[in-house]
Amino acid sequence: MRLLKMFAFVGVLAVLLLACGDDGADEGSPAETIEVELVVGSEGLRTQRTGGYGTAFDESWRAFSLTARNINHYERQAFAEGLDVFTVAWSADEEAEFSGLGPNFDATACATCHFEDGRAAGPAGDGPLPAGIGVKLLTDDPAAINEFGAVLSAHSVDGPGEATVTVTYEEVTGQFDDGTSYSLRRPIYSVELTGDSLLPDDAVIGVRVAPQIPGLGLLELVPDDALIALADPDDLDGDGISGRLGTAVDLLRDEPAIGRFGWTAGQPTLEQQTATALFNDMGLTSRYFPVAECDKWAPCVRVGIPLSTEYNVEDYGDPNFGVQEPAGGEVSDQQLLELAIYTQTLAVPGARDLDDPVVEQGYEAFVATGCTSCHTGPFTTRRGPIQGLSNQVIQPYTDLLVHDLGLGLGDQRLDGTTVTTEWRTPPLWGIGLLDTVSGHATLLHDGRARDYEEAILWHDGEAAASAAAYRALSAADRAALVRFLESL
Ligand code: HEC
Ligand code: HEC
Repeated sequence: MRLLKMFAFVGVLAVLLLACGDDGADEGSPAETIEVELVVGSEGLRTQRTGGYGTAFDESWRAFSLTARNINHYERQAFAEGLDVFTVAWSADEEAEFSGLGPNFDATACATCHFEDGRAAGPAGDGPLPAGIGVKLLTDDPAAINEFGAVLSAHSVDGPGEATVTVTYEEVTGQFDDGTSYSLRRPIYSVELTGDSLLPDDAVIGVRVAPQIPGLGLLELVPDDALIALADPDDLDGDGISGRLGTAVDLLRDEPAIGRFGWTAGQPTLEQQTATALFNDMGLTSRYFPVAECDKWAPCVRVGIPLSTEYNVEDYGDPNFGVQEPAGGEVSDQQLLELAIYTQTLAVPGARDLDDPVVEQGYEAFVATGCTSCHTGPFTTRRGPIQGLSNQVIQPYTDLLVHDLGLGLGDQRLDGTTVTTEWRTPPLWGIGLLDTVSGHATLLHDGRARDYEEAILWHDGEAAASAAAYRALSAADRAALVRFLESL
Protein backbone atom coordinates (compact mmCIF):
# COMPACT_ATOMS: atom_id res chain seq x y z
CA MET A 1 0.00 0.00 0.00
CA ARG A 2 1.61 3.21 -1.10
CA LEU A 3 -0.85 5.87 -0.07
CA LEU A 4 1.24 7.44 2.63
CA LYS A 5 3.99 8.11 0.13
CA MET A 6 1.59 9.82 -2.22
CA PHE A 7 0.30 12.12 0.47
CA ALA A 8 3.61 12.44 2.19
CA PHE A 9 3.23 16.07 3.07
CA VAL A 10 2.03 16.56 6.60
CA GLY A 11 0.15 19.60 7.59
CA VAL A 12 -3.23 20.99 7.31
CA LEU A 13 -4.53 22.99 4.42
CA ALA A 14 -7.79 24.69 5.02
CA VAL A 15 -9.67 25.57 1.89
CA LEU A 16 -12.84 27.55 1.84
CA LEU A 17 -15.16 26.34 -0.85
CA LEU A 18 -18.11 28.41 -1.91
CA ALA A 19 -20.72 26.21 -3.47
CA CYS A 20 -24.06 27.09 -4.90
CA GLY A 21 -26.25 24.11 -4.28
CA ASP A 22 -29.77 23.05 -3.55
CA ASP A 23 -29.16 20.70 -0.68
CA GLY A 24 -32.13 18.73 0.47
CA ALA A 25 -34.52 20.13 -2.10
CA ASP A 26 -34.76 19.49 -5.81
CA GLU A 27 -34.36 22.04 -8.58
CA GLY A 28 -36.03 25.36 -8.11
CA SER A 29 -35.10 26.21 -4.54
CA PRO A 30 -33.15 29.44 -4.08
CA ALA A 31 -29.42 29.10 -4.36
CA GLU A 32 -27.70 29.30 -1.01
CA THR A 33 -24.08 29.72 -0.11
CA ILE A 34 -22.54 26.89 1.81
CA GLU A 35 -19.20 27.16 3.44
CA VAL A 36 -17.28 23.94 3.56
CA GLU A 37 -13.97 23.52 5.22
CA LEU A 38 -11.76 21.04 3.46
CA VAL A 39 -8.92 19.80 5.56
CA VAL A 40 -6.26 17.98 3.57
CA GLY A 41 -3.51 16.30 5.55
CA SER A 42 -1.28 13.29 5.36
CA GLU A 43 -4.16 10.96 6.11
CA GLY A 44 -6.87 12.07 3.76
CA LEU A 45 -9.55 14.65 3.61
CA ARG A 46 -11.96 15.69 6.34
CA THR A 47 -15.03 17.19 4.75
CA GLN A 48 -18.79 17.02 4.95
CA ARG A 49 -18.84 16.88 1.16
CA THR A 50 -17.47 13.38 0.85
CA GLY A 51 -19.16 13.10 -2.57
CA GLY A 52 -17.94 16.41 -3.99
CA TYR A 53 -20.36 19.12 -5.08
CA GLY A 54 -23.12 16.59 -5.66
CA THR A 55 -23.20 15.58 -1.98
CA ALA A 56 -26.71 15.61 -0.49
CA PHE A 57 -27.50 16.57 3.07
CA ASP A 58 -30.53 14.60 4.18
CA GLU A 59 -30.47 12.44 7.28
CA SER A 60 -33.90 10.87 6.77
CA TRP A 61 -34.81 7.46 5.31
CA ARG A 62 -34.39 9.11 1.87
CA ALA A 63 -30.70 9.69 2.51
CA PHE A 64 -29.50 7.22 -0.17
CA SER A 65 -32.17 8.09 -2.75
CA LEU A 66 -31.46 11.67 -3.81
CA THR A 67 -29.89 12.68 -7.09
CA ALA A 68 -26.43 14.20 -7.03
CA ARG A 69 -27.23 17.85 -6.34
CA ASN A 70 -25.28 19.15 -9.34
CA ILE A 71 -26.60 17.12 -12.29
CA ASN A 72 -28.49 18.78 -15.13
CA HIS A 73 -32.12 18.38 -16.09
CA TYR A 74 -31.46 15.82 -18.87
CA GLU A 75 -29.73 13.66 -16.33
CA ARG A 76 -32.52 14.19 -13.81
CA GLN A 77 -35.00 13.07 -16.45
CA ALA A 78 -32.96 9.94 -17.19
CA PHE A 79 -32.69 9.35 -13.43
CA ALA A 80 -36.47 9.56 -13.06
CA GLU A 81 -36.98 7.06 -15.90
CA GLY A 82 -34.30 4.86 -14.37
CA LEU A 83 -36.09 4.97 -11.02
CA ASP A 84 -39.17 3.50 -12.73
CA VAL A 85 -37.17 0.66 -14.24
CA PHE A 86 -35.41 0.11 -10.91
CA THR A 87 -38.59 -0.18 -8.85
CA VAL A 88 -40.97 -1.92 -11.28
CA ALA A 89 -41.76 -5.59 -10.70
CA TRP A 90 -40.90 -7.50 -13.90
CA SER A 91 -43.34 -10.17 -14.95
CA ALA A 92 -43.23 -13.51 -16.74
CA ASP A 93 -46.51 -12.59 -18.46
CA GLU A 94 -45.70 -11.75 -22.09
CA GLU A 95 -48.53 -9.22 -22.22
CA ALA A 96 -47.10 -7.18 -19.34
CA GLU A 97 -45.31 -3.91 -20.06
CA PHE A 98 -42.17 -5.08 -18.23
CA SER A 99 -42.04 -8.73 -19.23
CA GLY A 100 -39.40 -11.41 -19.57
CA LEU A 101 -38.80 -12.43 -15.95
CA GLY A 102 -37.24 -15.85 -15.46
CA PRO A 103 -37.19 -18.76 -15.96
CA ASN A 104 -35.11 -18.55 -12.77
CA PHE A 105 -34.90 -15.46 -10.62
CA ASP A 106 -34.13 -14.20 -7.14
CA ALA A 107 -36.37 -11.14 -7.10
CA THR A 108 -38.75 -9.39 -9.50
CA ALA A 109 -37.34 -5.86 -9.00
CA CYS A 110 -33.95 -4.28 -8.37
CA ALA A 111 -35.56 -2.39 -5.51
CA THR A 112 -36.58 -5.62 -3.74
CA CYS A 113 -32.95 -6.25 -2.85
CA HIS A 114 -31.73 -2.63 -2.88
CA PHE A 115 -34.76 -1.27 -1.01
CA GLU A 116 -34.68 2.56 -0.82
CA ASP A 117 -31.23 2.17 -2.44
CA GLY A 118 -30.10 0.73 0.87
CA ARG A 119 -28.63 -2.55 1.99
CA ALA A 120 -30.36 -5.89 2.51
CA ALA A 121 -30.22 -7.10 6.10
CA GLY A 122 -28.00 -10.01 7.09
CA PRO A 123 -29.72 -13.14 8.47
CA ALA A 124 -31.39 -12.55 11.85
CA GLY A 125 -30.25 -16.01 12.96
CA ASP A 126 -30.10 -19.65 11.84
CA GLY A 127 -32.32 -20.62 8.93
CA PRO A 128 -32.78 -20.13 5.18
CA LEU A 129 -31.12 -16.97 3.83
CA PRO A 130 -33.54 -14.04 3.70
CA ALA A 131 -34.41 -12.17 0.47
CA GLY A 132 -31.82 -9.63 -0.64
CA ILE A 133 -28.92 -12.04 -0.30
CA GLY A 134 -27.58 -13.50 -3.52
CA VAL A 135 -25.72 -16.80 -3.75
CA LYS A 136 -23.06 -17.02 -6.45
CA LEU A 137 -21.59 -20.23 -7.77
CA LEU A 138 -17.86 -20.11 -8.33
CA THR A 139 -15.66 -22.81 -9.79
CA ASP A 140 -12.55 -23.37 -11.88
CA ASP A 141 -14.56 -25.69 -14.08
CA PRO A 142 -17.53 -23.68 -15.34
CA ALA A 143 -18.80 -26.57 -17.47
CA ALA A 144 -19.50 -28.56 -14.29
CA ILE A 145 -22.01 -26.02 -13.06
CA ASN A 146 -23.25 -24.85 -16.41
CA GLU A 147 -26.76 -26.03 -15.75
CA PHE A 148 -27.05 -23.65 -12.80
CA GLY A 149 -25.20 -20.68 -14.21
CA ALA A 150 -23.54 -17.98 -12.16
CA VAL A 151 -26.02 -17.92 -9.26
CA LEU A 152 -28.20 -20.37 -7.34
CA SER A 153 -31.65 -18.90 -7.86
CA ALA A 154 -34.21 -18.96 -5.06
CA HIS A 155 -37.25 -18.85 -7.39
CA SER A 156 -38.45 -19.97 -10.77
CA VAL A 157 -41.55 -18.93 -12.71
CA ASP A 158 -42.89 -22.48 -12.96
CA GLY A 159 -41.95 -24.21 -9.73
CA PRO A 160 -39.42 -24.07 -6.92
CA GLY A 161 -36.06 -22.35 -7.37
CA GLU A 162 -32.74 -24.13 -7.86
CA ALA A 163 -31.77 -24.42 -4.21
CA THR A 164 -32.40 -23.41 -0.62
CA VAL A 165 -29.32 -22.12 1.16
CA THR A 166 -29.38 -22.24 4.96
CA VAL A 167 -27.06 -20.62 7.46
CA THR A 168 -26.14 -21.89 10.92
CA TYR A 169 -24.10 -19.61 13.16
CA GLU A 170 -21.37 -20.66 15.54
CA GLU A 171 -20.33 -18.23 18.28
CA VAL A 172 -16.66 -17.26 18.33
CA THR A 173 -15.34 -15.44 21.36
CA GLY A 174 -12.35 -13.18 21.82
CA GLN A 175 -10.92 -10.53 24.10
CA PHE A 176 -9.86 -6.91 23.83
CA ASP A 177 -6.46 -6.14 25.31
CA ASP A 178 -8.16 -4.58 28.33
CA GLY A 179 -9.71 -7.95 29.17
CA THR A 180 -13.25 -7.21 28.01
CA SER A 181 -14.61 -10.14 26.03
CA TYR A 182 -16.59 -10.07 22.80
CA SER A 183 -18.47 -12.58 20.72
CA LEU A 184 -18.84 -12.91 16.94
CA ARG A 185 -20.99 -15.25 14.84
CA ARG A 186 -19.34 -17.43 12.19
CA PRO A 187 -21.66 -18.61 9.42
CA ILE A 188 -21.74 -22.17 8.12
CA TYR A 189 -23.77 -22.58 4.94
CA SER A 190 -25.53 -25.63 3.64
CA VAL A 191 -27.13 -26.04 0.23
CA GLU A 192 -30.16 -28.15 -0.57
CA LEU A 193 -30.65 -28.53 -4.32
CA THR A 194 -34.21 -28.77 -5.55
CA GLY A 195 -33.78 -30.76 -8.77
CA ASP A 196 -31.87 -33.90 -9.69
CA SER A 197 -28.77 -32.16 -11.00
CA LEU A 198 -25.73 -32.26 -8.77
CA LEU A 199 -22.94 -29.82 -8.10
CA PRO A 200 -19.29 -30.81 -7.69
CA ASP A 201 -18.13 -30.79 -4.04
CA ASP A 202 -15.44 -28.26 -4.79
CA ALA A 203 -17.91 -25.72 -6.17
CA VAL A 204 -17.69 -22.60 -4.03
CA ILE A 205 -20.78 -20.72 -2.96
CA GLY A 206 -20.45 -16.97 -2.56
CA VAL A 207 -23.04 -15.51 -0.20
CA ARG A 208 -23.44 -11.78 -0.91
CA VAL A 209 -25.67 -9.17 0.66
CA ALA A 210 -27.15 -6.53 -1.66
CA PRO A 211 -25.17 -3.39 -0.75
CA GLN A 212 -26.40 0.20 -0.58
CA ILE A 213 -25.80 1.99 -3.88
CA PRO A 214 -25.28 5.76 -3.46
CA GLY A 215 -22.17 7.44 -4.87
CA LEU A 216 -21.14 4.67 -7.26
CA GLY A 217 -20.95 6.93 -10.34
CA LEU A 218 -18.12 8.79 -8.65
CA LEU A 219 -16.24 5.57 -7.91
CA GLU A 220 -16.64 4.64 -11.59
CA LEU A 221 -14.71 7.80 -12.48
CA VAL A 222 -11.78 7.36 -10.11
CA PRO A 223 -8.94 7.32 -12.67
CA ASP A 224 -7.38 3.92 -13.39
CA ASP A 225 -3.96 5.50 -12.80
CA ALA A 226 -4.88 6.40 -9.23
CA LEU A 227 -5.76 2.76 -8.52
CA ILE A 228 -2.67 1.46 -10.29
CA ALA A 229 -0.59 3.81 -8.13
CA LEU A 230 -2.20 2.47 -4.93
CA ALA A 231 -1.93 -1.22 -5.83
CA ASP A 232 1.01 -3.06 -4.31
CA PRO A 233 0.27 -6.71 -5.14
CA ASP A 234 3.65 -8.01 -4.01
CA ASP A 235 3.80 -5.77 -0.94
CA LEU A 236 7.02 -4.17 -2.10
CA ASP A 237 6.84 -1.57 0.65
CA GLY A 238 6.64 -4.36 3.25
CA ASP A 239 3.78 -2.90 5.27
CA GLY A 240 1.85 -6.18 5.23
CA ILE A 241 -0.81 -4.73 2.97
CA SER A 242 -0.76 -5.74 -0.67
CA GLY A 243 -3.91 -4.48 -2.50
CA ARG A 244 -4.61 -5.74 -5.97
CA LEU A 245 -6.62 -4.26 -8.80
CA GLY A 246 -10.00 -5.94 -9.19
CA THR A 247 -10.00 -8.29 -12.17
CA ALA A 248 -12.90 -8.05 -14.56
CA VAL A 249 -13.78 -8.46 -18.21
CA ASP A 250 -15.43 -5.75 -20.26
CA LEU A 251 -18.00 -8.11 -21.79
CA LEU A 252 -18.96 -5.96 -24.78
CA ARG A 253 -15.41 -5.33 -25.88
CA ASP A 254 -14.20 -8.74 -24.67
CA GLU A 255 -11.19 -7.13 -23.01
CA PRO A 256 -9.74 -7.32 -19.50
CA ALA A 257 -10.71 -4.35 -17.32
CA ILE A 258 -10.16 -3.07 -13.81
CA GLY A 259 -13.00 -4.29 -11.59
CA ARG A 260 -14.62 -1.83 -9.17
CA PHE A 261 -18.11 -3.07 -8.31
CA GLY A 262 -19.47 -5.92 -6.28
CA TRP A 263 -17.95 -7.26 -3.04
CA THR A 264 -15.01 -8.74 -4.96
CA ALA A 265 -14.70 -5.92 -7.52
CA GLY A 266 -15.68 -8.28 -10.32
CA GLN A 267 -17.50 -5.74 -12.48
CA PRO A 268 -15.83 -2.82 -14.31
CA THR A 269 -18.81 -0.52 -14.89
CA LEU A 270 -22.22 0.13 -13.39
CA GLU A 271 -23.85 -0.61 -16.72
CA GLN A 272 -22.30 -4.08 -16.85
CA GLN A 273 -23.08 -4.65 -13.16
CA THR A 274 -26.68 -3.73 -13.94
CA ALA A 275 -26.92 -5.96 -17.03
CA THR A 276 -25.46 -8.82 -15.02
CA ALA A 277 -28.00 -8.28 -12.22
CA LEU A 278 -30.80 -8.23 -14.76
CA PHE A 279 -29.61 -11.51 -16.22
CA ASN A 280 -28.47 -13.42 -13.12
CA ASP A 281 -30.92 -12.14 -10.51
CA MET A 282 -34.02 -11.64 -12.65
CA GLY A 283 -33.53 -13.75 -15.79
CA LEU A 284 -33.77 -10.72 -18.11
CA THR A 285 -31.83 -10.51 -21.38
CA SER A 286 -30.25 -7.31 -22.71
CA ARG A 287 -27.47 -6.13 -25.01
CA TYR A 288 -24.96 -7.83 -22.70
CA PHE A 289 -26.70 -11.19 -22.39
CA PRO A 290 -28.90 -11.38 -25.49
CA VAL A 291 -29.96 -15.03 -25.25
CA ALA A 292 -31.68 -16.61 -22.26
CA GLU A 293 -29.68 -19.82 -22.67
CA CYS A 294 -26.46 -17.87 -22.97
CA ASP A 295 -24.66 -17.92 -19.68
CA LYS A 296 -21.37 -16.67 -18.43
CA TRP A 297 -19.42 -19.39 -20.19
CA ALA A 298 -21.30 -20.54 -23.27
CA PRO A 299 -20.42 -18.58 -26.39
CA CYS A 300 -22.97 -15.91 -27.14
CA VAL A 301 -23.08 -12.71 -29.09
CA ARG A 302 -22.24 -9.53 -27.32
CA VAL A 303 -21.74 -6.50 -29.47
CA GLY A 304 -20.85 -2.86 -29.21
CA ILE A 305 -19.40 -0.64 -26.57
CA PRO A 306 -20.92 0.39 -23.23
CA LEU A 307 -23.82 2.80 -23.53
CA SER A 308 -23.48 4.83 -20.39
CA THR A 309 -19.78 5.49 -20.25
CA GLU A 310 -19.18 6.34 -23.91
CA TYR A 311 -22.22 8.28 -25.02
CA ASN A 312 -23.35 11.82 -24.63
CA VAL A 313 -26.08 11.44 -22.07
CA GLU A 314 -28.17 14.16 -23.75
CA ASP A 315 -28.79 11.69 -26.57
CA TYR A 316 -30.37 9.20 -24.24
CA GLY A 317 -33.83 9.75 -25.72
CA ASP A 318 -32.57 8.62 -29.13
CA PRO A 319 -33.19 4.87 -29.36
CA ASN A 320 -30.12 4.44 -31.56
CA PHE A 321 -27.98 6.66 -29.38
CA GLY A 322 -26.70 7.97 -32.68
CA VAL A 323 -23.90 5.43 -32.85
CA GLN A 324 -24.62 1.75 -32.60
CA GLU A 325 -27.43 -0.58 -33.57
CA PRO A 326 -29.97 -1.05 -30.82
CA ALA A 327 -29.72 -4.57 -29.46
CA GLY A 328 -32.58 -6.97 -28.92
CA GLY A 329 -33.35 -8.29 -25.46
CA GLU A 330 -36.07 -8.16 -22.86
CA VAL A 331 -34.49 -5.01 -21.49
CA SER A 332 -33.98 -2.35 -24.17
CA ASP A 333 -30.81 -0.32 -24.55
CA GLN A 334 -32.72 2.69 -23.36
CA GLN A 335 -33.92 0.99 -20.18
CA LEU A 336 -30.43 -0.32 -19.51
CA LEU A 337 -28.93 3.12 -19.99
CA GLU A 338 -31.53 4.70 -17.72
CA LEU A 339 -30.80 2.12 -15.02
CA ALA A 340 -27.08 2.77 -15.36
CA ILE A 341 -27.60 6.53 -15.09
CA TYR A 342 -29.82 5.96 -12.06
CA THR A 343 -27.07 4.05 -10.26
CA GLN A 344 -24.46 6.59 -11.39
CA THR A 345 -26.23 9.66 -10.10
CA LEU A 346 -27.47 8.68 -6.63
CA ALA A 347 -25.89 11.28 -4.36
CA VAL A 348 -23.46 10.53 -1.58
CA PRO A 349 -24.99 11.50 1.78
CA GLY A 350 -22.74 14.06 3.44
CA ALA A 351 -20.79 13.39 6.63
CA ARG A 352 -22.15 14.83 9.86
CA ASP A 353 -20.88 16.13 13.20
CA LEU A 354 -17.38 16.98 11.97
CA ASP A 355 -16.89 19.35 14.87
CA ASP A 356 -18.02 16.87 17.54
CA PRO A 357 -14.92 16.20 19.69
CA VAL A 358 -15.80 12.50 20.08
CA VAL A 359 -16.08 12.11 16.31
CA GLU A 360 -12.69 13.80 15.95
CA GLN A 361 -11.23 11.49 18.59
CA GLY A 362 -12.68 8.54 16.67
CA TYR A 363 -11.20 9.79 13.42
CA GLU A 364 -7.80 10.00 15.06
CA ALA A 365 -8.19 6.41 16.29
CA PHE A 366 -9.27 5.40 12.75
CA VAL A 367 -6.03 6.84 11.38
CA ALA A 368 -3.86 5.56 14.23
CA THR A 369 -5.07 1.96 13.84
CA GLY A 370 -4.23 1.96 10.14
CA CYS A 371 -7.76 1.83 8.76
CA THR A 372 -6.81 4.52 6.23
CA SER A 373 -4.35 2.13 4.60
CA CYS A 374 -7.37 0.67 2.80
CA HIS A 375 -10.37 2.86 3.68
CA THR A 376 -8.67 5.75 1.97
CA GLY A 377 -9.05 8.80 -0.23
CA PRO A 378 -9.26 11.49 -1.42
CA PHE A 379 -9.50 11.05 -5.18
CA THR A 380 -10.29 13.49 -7.96
CA THR A 381 -12.66 11.93 -10.48
CA ARG A 382 -11.85 12.00 -14.17
CA ARG A 383 -14.07 13.48 -16.82
CA GLY A 384 -17.07 11.35 -17.77
CA PRO A 385 -20.27 11.89 -19.76
CA ILE A 386 -22.03 13.31 -16.68
CA GLN A 387 -20.43 16.63 -15.91
CA GLY A 388 -21.57 16.78 -12.29
CA LEU A 389 -19.65 13.58 -11.55
CA SER A 390 -16.50 14.82 -13.30
CA ASN A 391 -13.53 16.50 -11.63
CA GLN A 392 -14.99 16.03 -8.16
CA VAL A 393 -12.82 15.76 -5.08
CA ILE A 394 -14.25 12.81 -3.16
CA GLN A 395 -13.49 11.02 0.10
CA PRO A 396 -15.04 7.54 -0.19
CA TYR A 397 -12.85 5.74 2.41
CA THR A 398 -11.92 3.00 -0.04
CA ASP A 399 -8.95 2.21 -2.26
CA LEU A 400 -11.22 0.16 -4.57
CA LEU A 401 -8.60 -2.59 -4.36
CA VAL A 402 -9.11 -6.19 -3.28
CA HIS A 403 -7.46 -7.53 -0.13
CA ASP A 404 -7.08 -10.89 1.58
CA LEU A 405 -8.79 -10.42 4.93
CA GLY A 406 -8.08 -13.94 6.13
CA LEU A 407 -9.67 -17.36 5.86
CA GLY A 408 -12.32 -16.49 8.44
CA LEU A 409 -14.01 -14.27 5.85
CA GLY A 410 -13.47 -16.62 2.90
CA ASP A 411 -16.20 -18.23 0.84
CA GLN A 412 -17.10 -21.86 1.56
CA ARG A 413 -17.09 -24.91 -0.68
CA LEU A 414 -20.14 -27.13 -0.74
CA ASP A 415 -18.21 -29.62 1.40
CA GLY A 416 -17.87 -26.96 4.11
CA THR A 417 -14.17 -26.12 3.70
CA THR A 418 -13.23 -22.47 3.36
CA VAL A 419 -11.28 -20.81 0.57
CA THR A 420 -9.45 -17.50 0.62
CA THR A 421 -11.49 -14.80 -1.04
CA GLU A 422 -10.18 -11.32 -1.71
CA TRP A 423 -12.65 -8.56 -0.94
CA ARG A 424 -12.86 -5.05 -2.30
CA THR A 425 -12.48 -2.45 0.43
CA PRO A 426 -16.06 -1.18 0.74
CA PRO A 427 -16.57 2.60 0.70
CA LEU A 428 -17.55 3.83 4.16
CA TRP A 429 -19.28 7.05 3.07
CA GLY A 430 -22.93 6.99 4.11
CA ILE A 431 -22.43 3.91 6.28
CA GLY A 432 -23.61 5.75 9.40
CA LEU A 433 -27.06 6.14 7.83
CA LEU A 434 -27.62 2.44 7.10
CA ASP A 435 -29.81 1.98 10.14
CA THR A 436 -31.90 5.04 9.24
CA VAL A 437 -32.44 3.92 5.64
CA SER A 438 -32.46 0.13 5.90
CA GLY A 439 -33.37 -0.44 9.56
CA HIS A 440 -30.23 -2.40 10.44
CA ALA A 441 -26.48 -2.06 10.44
CA THR A 442 -25.51 -5.65 9.63
CA LEU A 443 -22.22 -5.46 7.81
CA LEU A 444 -19.68 -7.33 5.67
CA HIS A 445 -20.25 -9.23 2.43
CA ASP A 446 -22.57 -11.80 3.98
CA GLY A 447 -24.18 -9.68 6.68
CA ARG A 448 -22.60 -11.69 9.53
CA ALA A 449 -21.45 -8.63 11.51
CA ARG A 450 -24.27 -7.38 13.72
CA ASP A 451 -22.70 -3.95 14.22
CA TYR A 452 -19.69 -1.82 13.31
CA GLU A 453 -17.46 -3.29 15.99
CA GLU A 454 -18.07 -6.86 14.88
CA ALA A 455 -17.17 -5.84 11.30
CA ILE A 456 -13.84 -4.47 12.54
CA LEU A 457 -13.13 -7.52 14.70
CA TRP A 458 -13.52 -9.85 11.68
CA HIS A 459 -10.62 -8.06 9.90
CA ASP A 460 -7.62 -10.39 9.62
CA GLY A 461 -5.05 -11.26 6.93
CA GLU A 462 -3.76 -8.02 5.46
CA ALA A 463 -5.79 -6.13 8.05
CA ALA A 464 -4.59 -8.21 11.04
CA ALA A 465 -2.32 -5.48 12.41
CA SER A 466 -5.09 -2.94 12.09
CA ALA A 467 -7.59 -5.15 13.93
CA ALA A 468 -5.00 -5.85 16.64
CA ALA A 469 -4.45 -2.11 17.04
CA TYR A 470 -8.22 -1.70 17.42
CA ARG A 471 -8.36 -4.41 20.12
CA ALA A 472 -5.58 -2.56 21.94
CA LEU A 473 -7.53 0.72 22.10
CA SER A 474 -9.17 1.89 25.31
CA ALA A 475 -12.94 1.36 25.56
CA ALA A 476 -13.39 5.13 25.09
CA ASP A 477 -11.33 5.18 21.89
CA ARG A 478 -13.16 2.13 20.53
CA ALA A 479 -16.49 3.81 21.17
CA ALA A 480 -15.23 7.03 19.58
CA LEU A 481 -14.06 5.16 16.47
CA VAL A 482 -17.51 3.61 16.10
CA ARG A 483 -19.02 7.07 16.62
CA PHE A 484 -16.82 8.33 13.76
CA LEU A 485 -18.18 5.58 11.47
CA GLU A 486 -21.70 6.61 12.48
CA SER A 487 -20.93 10.18 11.43
CA LEU A 488 -20.17 9.14 7.84
C1 HEC B 1 -31.47 -10.79 -5.59
C2 HEC B 1 -31.11 -9.51 -5.07
C3 HEC B 1 -30.63 -8.45 -6.05
C4 HEC B 1 -31.33 -7.91 -7.11
C5 HEC B 1 -32.71 -8.27 -7.62
C6 HEC B 1 -30.47 -6.88 -7.65
N1 HEC B 1 -29.30 -6.82 -6.96
FE1 HEC B 1 -27.82 -5.47 -7.23
N2 HEC B 1 -26.66 -6.47 -5.94
C7 HEC B 1 -27.05 -7.59 -5.24
C8 HEC B 1 -25.89 -8.21 -4.65
C9 HEC B 1 -25.88 -9.48 -3.80
C10 HEC B 1 -24.78 -7.42 -5.01
C11 HEC B 1 -23.32 -7.69 -4.71
C12 HEC B 1 -22.85 -8.53 -5.89
C13 HEC B 1 -21.45 -9.05 -5.80
O1 HEC B 1 -20.77 -8.86 -4.82
O2 HEC B 1 -21.00 -9.65 -6.79
C14 HEC B 1 -25.31 -6.33 -5.82
C15 HEC B 1 -24.54 -5.30 -6.35
C16 HEC B 1 -25.05 -4.24 -7.07
C17 HEC B 1 -24.31 -3.07 -7.47
C18 HEC B 1 -22.84 -2.77 -7.14
C19 HEC B 1 -22.72 -2.16 -5.77
C20 HEC B 1 -21.30 -1.89 -5.35
O3 HEC B 1 -21.10 -1.28 -4.30
O4 HEC B 1 -20.36 -2.29 -6.03
C21 HEC B 1 -25.16 -2.30 -8.20
C22 HEC B 1 -24.85 -0.96 -8.85
C23 HEC B 1 -26.40 -3.00 -8.27
N3 HEC B 1 -26.31 -4.16 -7.56
C24 HEC B 1 -27.51 -2.55 -8.99
C25 HEC B 1 -28.62 -3.36 -9.24
C26 HEC B 1 -29.62 -3.06 -10.25
C27 HEC B 1 -29.63 -1.86 -11.15
C28 HEC B 1 -30.53 -4.08 -10.18
C29 HEC B 1 -31.74 -4.32 -11.07
C30 HEC B 1 -31.41 -4.55 -12.46
C31 HEC B 1 -30.09 -4.99 -9.13
N4 HEC B 1 -28.92 -4.53 -8.61
C32 HEC B 1 -30.80 -6.11 -8.75
C33 HEC B 1 -28.33 -8.06 -5.11
C34 HEC B 1 -29.35 -7.78 -5.98
C1 HEC C 1 -6.17 -4.36 4.48
C2 HEC C 1 -7.26 -3.43 4.15
C3 HEC C 1 -8.17 -2.99 5.27
C4 HEC C 1 -7.85 -2.40 6.48
C5 HEC C 1 -6.48 -2.07 7.01
C6 HEC C 1 -9.11 -2.14 7.14
N1 HEC C 1 -10.15 -2.56 6.36
FE1 HEC C 1 -12.12 -2.45 6.81
N2 HEC C 1 -12.58 -3.58 5.24
C7 HEC C 1 -11.69 -4.03 4.29
C8 HEC C 1 -12.35 -4.98 3.41
C9 HEC C 1 -11.70 -5.67 2.23
C10 HEC C 1 -13.66 -5.11 3.89
C11 HEC C 1 -14.77 -6.02 3.33
C12 HEC C 1 -14.72 -7.38 4.02
C13 HEC C 1 -15.93 -8.24 3.84
O1 HEC C 1 -16.99 -7.77 3.43
O2 HEC C 1 -15.86 -9.45 4.12
C14 HEC C 1 -13.79 -4.19 5.01
C15 HEC C 1 -14.96 -3.95 5.71
C16 HEC C 1 -15.10 -2.99 6.69
C17 HEC C 1 -16.35 -2.59 7.29
C18 HEC C 1 -17.73 -3.09 6.87
C19 HEC C 1 -18.16 -2.30 5.66
C20 HEC C 1 -19.42 -2.77 5.02
O3 HEC C 1 -19.84 -2.08 4.08
O4 HEC C 1 -20.00 -3.80 5.39
C21 HEC C 1 -16.08 -1.63 8.22
C22 HEC C 1 -17.07 -0.88 9.10
C23 HEC C 1 -14.64 -1.47 8.24
N3 HEC C 1 -14.08 -2.30 7.28
C24 HEC C 1 -13.95 -0.61 9.07
C25 HEC C 1 -12.57 -0.67 9.23
C26 HEC C 1 -11.86 -0.05 10.33
C27 HEC C 1 -12.51 0.79 11.41
C28 HEC C 1 -10.54 -0.34 10.16
C29 HEC C 1 -9.39 0.01 11.07
C30 HEC C 1 -9.49 -0.51 12.42
C31 HEC C 1 -10.43 -1.12 8.94
N4 HEC C 1 -11.68 -1.32 8.43
C32 HEC C 1 -9.22 -1.56 8.39
C33 HEC C 1 -10.36 -3.66 4.18
C34 HEC C 1 -9.62 -3.11 5.23
